[in-house]
Amino acid sequence: MPVMEIRKAGDKVLKIMAMPVDKIDRKIKHLLDDMAETMYAADGVGLAAPQVGVSWRIVVIDVGEGIIELINPEIVAKEGCEIGTEGCLSVPGMYGEVERYATVTVEALNRNGKKIRINGSGLLARALQHEIDHLDGILFIELAKTMHKG
Ligand code: NI
Repeated sequence: MPVMEIRKAGDKVLKIMAMPVDKIDRKIKHLLDDMAETMYAADGVGLAAPQVGVSWRIVVIDVGEGIIELINPEIVAKEGCEIGTEGCLSVPGMYGEVERYATVTVEALNRNGKKIRINGSGLLARALQHEIDHLDGILFIELAKTMHKG
């Protein structure tokens, strides 16, 4: 499985709204595999398809509890609010304090086209919101209250 090139802030693909996936075929499954490989190789906890130059609504996340693959994810419930530090593989070396919902429920399709529902709080809630933002062309640096290096 090849590791893909991660697009950096300033790349146009990171600024546009990604398209919903209408058919989960072999190409999409390969992309999911390659995205996971790319995320792990870069030591990330999440990666959205636009970050590898593919403008589709696909996300992979692993906050240390195993891989989560989400196709066409949508936040269907949200609660509370929490400020925490975020980084992004597309913005290397920079971190920022971002306010997010403390808990979110996300509905998506898995690689078999089955509807799944994920309930996350803490780091998982943050990763879900950060990655879904990527699908809407939003980078955390646009939301951060303060930014710092390293
Ligand atoms: Ni990111």
